[in-house]
Amino acid sequence: MSETRTVGPARSLSGEITVPGDKSISHRSIMLGSLARGTTLVRGFLHGEDNHATLNAFRGMGITIDELKGGDLRIDGKGLHGLAEPGDVIDCGNSGTTIRLMTGLLSGQNFFSVLSGDRYLRKRPMKRVLGPLTAMGARIWGRGGGELAPLAISGGTLKSTEYVSPISSAQVKSAILLAGLYADGVTTVREPHLSRDHSERMLRYFGADVRPFDGGVSVAAQPTLEGREVFVPGDISSAAFYMVAALIVPGAELLIRNVGVNPTRSGIIDILQEMGGSLELLNQRELSGEPVADILVRSSTLTGIEIGGSVVPRAIDEFPVVSVAASFAEGTTIIRDARELRVKETDRIAAMVNELGALGGRVEARDDGMVIQGGESLAGGTVHSHGDHRIAMSMAIAALRARGEVTIDDTACTATSFPDFWSLLDQVCC
Ligand code: S3P
Repeated sequence: MSETRTVGPARSLSGEITVPGDKSISHRSIMLGSLARGTTLVRGFLHGEDNHATLNAFRGMGITIDELKGGDLRIDGKGLHGLAEPGDVIDCGNSGTTIRLMTGLLSGQNFFSVLSGDRYLRKRPMKRVLGPLTAMGARIWGRGGGELAPLAISGGTLKSTEYVSPISSAQVKSAILLAGLYADGVTTVREPHLSRDHSERMLRYFGADVRPFDGGVSVAAQPTLEGREVFVPGDISSAAFYMVAALIVPGAELLIRNVGVNPTRSGIIDILQEMGGSLELLNQRELSGEPVADILVRSSTLTGIEIGGSVVPRAIDEFPVVSVAASFAEGTTIIRDARELRVKETDRIAAMVNELGALGGRVEARDDGMVIQGGESLAGGTVHSHGDHRIAMSMAIAALRARGEVTIDDTACTATSFPDFWSLLDQVCC
């Protein structure tokens, strides 16, 4: 398939990098900027395909969004009730965050809309948002009895809810909170473990009444959101590839500047430190309601560990690259409680078992995770991305410590979250 890349073993890795803006925060900045009154400036917006899907969706609903010099955005918000009915199907591309959050938000609009996406997105489960939204009075239809996109929404009046989610999912939580803005009272969402809280933080930053409590969060309906200046920090999920690269390449030292280290996202740092990785957080600060730091990473001897429980949602997008780190660690790593990996852009458990296995890695699938035998060196070979950006990038990082060149097919998908991934790799490796 398109865009094959070959990555060879790295002799060394060093330098200073900044990674592109956080994908989750970039999505939310467009959504809340559009629903706010007045101007929102977004600094450090991630220009990846996923975020452009959200941007185009709001332009298609009558919101003016200008790109400024350097890629920053100016959004002329029209208030909570200022969106116009889109003239066409909203194309969410590969982006689960776009389709699920917008399903919540569009449930409260007085118009009809249809959401769809690429062949991967159209296989991903949607009842997890349709169920609670329907209970709020939303009228939504989808293929497969409401499980699959395209989704059709006839928006209207919503009632508030107290939803107890069986899964820790920020997309589910955020869809309900966004619908809750249009409800008739206070909406509450509880989840087993706290998932990323960017929606809560940004809603509060824009002036909504959001109250987190132990085990959940509530939002009051019909707030007036005020346009703000949003500084998007570097995406820790993108930084994670470079953290693992610097840990596994002998003699490496890398400074990653301006990374979002929100505690609901920083599970990867805890996991890698527990494995014996040298990661130091420097210059810690807060930018528009989000904690940020520079991260200094030094090559380290890693040891296998057991991973499960509340750290799993805090590192949910990082398990492909964690399995790479574990392949080069001493001993066994066991990942459990991570069944959600099966319904990401692809089944990430099956994908990493196959692809690391193709290079001679010993990885076994479990229903809710994987068992990785470390200490084996990986061979060169050909691997597949499964059309999933994080699988493609994880395999490129594995190649840095493999014995021979690794060819990765279908790498164009990295543009969904990290368009500069390959040039940055060239910059720090030799
Ligand atoms: C996201 C939430 C997570 C994550 C995804 C982005 C978000 O998905 O995997 O990449 O921006 O809310 P789930 O809510 O399905 O866990």
